[in-house]
Amino acid sequence: MGGKTQKFQKIALVIILMSSWSFSCPPPENIAPCTCQRVFSKFQLKCKKIFSSSVLEEVFEQTVDYRIDSFQLEDSSFPYFSQRLFQLLKPSSITLIGNAILSLAEPGHLPFQGLEDSLEYISVSRGQYMNDWNWSRFTELRALTSILLSSGDLSHIGTTMFQGNLPSLLYLTIKSNHVSSIDKSAFSSLESLEGLALWDNGITSIERSMFPNASLSQINLSYNKLSSLPDDIFQGMPKLEYLDLRGNQLKKLGEQMLGGVWNQLETLYISENHLQCDCALKWISDRYHKRERPRELDMGTCVEPPQLKGQDPTTASWYLIGCFI
Ligand SMILES: *[C@@H]1O[C@H](CO)[C@@H](O)[C@H](O)[C@H]1NC(C)=O
Ligand SMILES: *[C@@H]1O[C@H](CO)[C@@H](O)[C@H](O)[C@H]1NC(C)=O
Ligand SMILES: *[C@@H]1O[C@H](CO)[C@@H](O)[C@H](O)[C@H]1NC(C)=O
Repeated sequence: MGGKTQKFQKIALVIILMSSWSFSCPPPENIAPCTCQRVFSKFQLKCKKIFSSSVLEEVFEQTVDYRIDSFQLEDSSFPYFSQRLFQLLKPSSITLIGNAILSLAEPGHLPFQGLEDSLEYISVSRGQYMNDWNWSRFTELRALTSILLSSGDLSHIGTTMFQGNLPSLLYLTIKSNHVSSIDKSAFSSLESLEGLALWDNGITSIERSMFPNASLSQINLSYNKLSSLPDDIFQGMPKLEYLDLRGNQLKKLGEQMLGGVWNQLETLYISENHLQCDCALKWISDRYHKRERPRELDMGTCVEPPQLKGQDPTTASWYLIGCFI
């Protein structure tokens, strides 16, 4: 009887020892100038003000026996991430804040090599030189589900940027950058993409060919400079549920364009546009009164004509401008 308990205690002790060995941070003096901390059950390595990739290499060498879940780099500046870095450290999450890094990879190499099966999340905020980063040369990041690029200097999204090597990407957010142009097939090969958020940029036009087929359930284009949308823009999007077009310069919302997805939308935000409430917009009010409406709906108000100015298109007094049917 006592033997059994002892055996159990031994096993428990071994388990505790093992977990305290691998589930901990490296000694702080080994990883200076970086720091490691536990956040809930995750271990996070944070480095700040690093001016050479070789300093990072030395720190990463000290982490190989530890399980580090996330890597955060802040206020640093160097030409590129050297090839060896991610042979040493295999985080599932990388957060880059306020860095000036010229290239994601050493010349002649692919970015993030070594992280093919581990990297799930990348966030880059206040990044510089992002227009020069060649994302298309990502190694195939099979585990990557989410990319967030915020408050950076990205102004153009080229055809090759997200082409063909991110098979699991579910969410792509590019917010508060300076994006004003997007190539014709920029996001089309992201076949798992469910959420595309491009808010607070300077986007003036979009086309259906930019988006992938079938998978998208959320599109957020709020606070851009869109003055019109092509009629086919939401075609072939059977899962679209969330659409945010607030804060643009849209005048018309034709039934051709929006009618096809109207009944499947759960959420639709169109306030803060330049809606011209002519008879071509009355379909919205008709459907609304037939109780065909997104559960969460904010249409904002008509800007023109003067008779309907300030009225919500769903409940506007259409007879005032002679639209009866
Ligand atoms: C990015 O990489 C691809 C593939 O190697 C190459 O074809 C393309 O020209 C590169 N683009 C830029 C802007 O360097
Ligand atoms: C999406 O479907 C359309 C129409 O079937 C097709 O022309 C287009 O090439 C498809 N796009 C992709 C990226 O598969
Ligand atoms: C869409 O953009 C707005 C800002 O304009 C933001 O508040 C909201 O969280 C975004 N929603 C999604 C689902 O991306």
